Amino acid sequence: MKPLKIALLGCGVVGTEVVRLLHEQAADLAARVGAPLELAGIAVRRKDKRREGIAPELLTTDATGLVTRPDVDIVVEVIGGIEPARSLLLDAMKSGKSVVTANKALLAEDGATLFGAAREHGTDIYYEASVAGAIPLLRPLRESLVGDHVHRVMGIVNGTTNYILDKMDSSGAGFSEALEEAQALGYAEADPTADVEGFDAAAKAAILAQLAFHTRVTAADVHREGIADVTSADIASARAMGCVVKLLAICDRVPSEGGRNGRGVSVRVHPVMIPRTHPLASVREAYNAVFVEAQSAGSLMFYGAGAGGAPTASAVLGDLVAVARNRVNGTRGPAESTYADLPVLPMADTITRYHVSLDVADRPGVLARVADAFAEHDVSIQAVRQEGYGQEAQLVIVTHRAPDGALSATVANLRDQEIVREVASVMRVEGDE
Ligand code: NDP
Ligand code: HSE
Repeated sequence: MKPLKIALLGCGVVGTEVVRLLHEQAADLAARVGAPLELAGIAVRRKDKRREGIAPELLTTDATGLVTRPDVDIVVEVIGGIEPARSLLLDAMKSGKSVVTANKALLAEDGATLFGAAREHGTDIYYEASVAGAIPLLRPLRESLVGDHVHRVMGIVNGTTNYILDKMDSSGAGFSEALEEAQALGYAEADPTADVEGFDAAAKAAILAQLAFHTRVTAADVHREGIADVTSADIASARAMGCVVKLLAICDRVPSEGGRNGRGVSVRVHPVMIPRTHPLASVREAYNAVFVEAQSAGSLMFYGAGAGGAPTASAVLGDLVAVARNRVNGTRGPAESTYADLPVLPMADTITRYHVSLDVADRPGVLARVADAFAEHDVSIQAVRQEGYGQEAQLVIVTHRAPDGALSATVANLRDQEIVREVASVMRVEGDE
């Protein structure tokens, strides 16, 4: 059968591995698709850079020319960022090409424009590699679970931050030391802001929530807090409670009285204390893991390598085979589904538990006044522990479930009290009470 021609945009960490797999597995891929997959060209920024295993004649800096070439059938985008990736993908779909992308930043910021173009031009857009690298997660949500009612997706979707928090927990390293180690091992970027501040995880959370709940969610809708303020004291405090600190992406369908679809969705990324017995607590180093809870399927867990050239290229190749098969069969994959049109609820309405550490004066009546502040805002206390005494006293309070807004008001109240020297840390707690 006539070969299907592939334009590859980007030949960095992921693109290089895509090229290697296309060569190494050419015969198997052709048999699985029903037609050979042939690289038509590779767009890069620096054409003269030496690249092991890449035929120089395939390289070009004219990405627009490559994606609109009449002989190209499928465009694979692994450049990253918003522009020129968005314009290139739009040009490709306008020219009738199917597209595969690993670009979570773009999908989470402006997925609507991309999905709109796919609909308008009758093309496929697949993006399995954009969330959790090698782990098959988006296709299960988009296809396998499409007959079920998903009410929660919660997981570790950023390898760099998981590595840092794991090192802080297992070796007692401070944040900066653990970050340096992550950079030395190549997990974190030279500028690790997107990982450490939670932007990368927030983009992935938006993509997951949109697929799970069939409603539009963008990165701007996601409540985001990173891990830069997590201290060794927080890690030690979590340990004392039998917990570990993880940066989690949590997407919930918030129920309403009697309404099946719920009142809306809550989508957030922030550090969380979870019990050491929780399956997510055992996810070490740079691995990712995601829990999906659905009405009929129950709880499912997806685990594996969330980043790296070869694991991410595996997901890209899976998409490439899927869109190539669709072209051979003259069909298309499932279109975007946002029919539920649910509002994204403010963080203040999110209900969870909290761990609050206070530096206080150790004298009679202090605990009663602290407890009053919680009671005033209807936040019920589950446990109280005092560490140290005299001028060094610290009260650690764990609450029952309460709205985030009520907890914020409690903390503001505590900050105003003369008996509270400092609100040392506030962290949310997940897992059974
Ligand atoms: P890299 O930075 O390693 O590679 C980017 C590639 O894009 C380079 O080859 C670069 O060219 C090329 N490029 C940059 N700008 C342009 C441009 N204007 N025109 C043409 N080519 C350009 O990125 P990664 O491979 O790490 O990531 C690619 C995508 O995959 C991103 O969307 C990322 O979020 C996603 N992803 C990455 C994962 C990972 O573990 N790395 C995991 C999951 C997803 P040159 O080589 O000349 O500089
Ligand atoms: N920087 C990301 C991580 C890469 O650490 O998980 C995968 O998206």
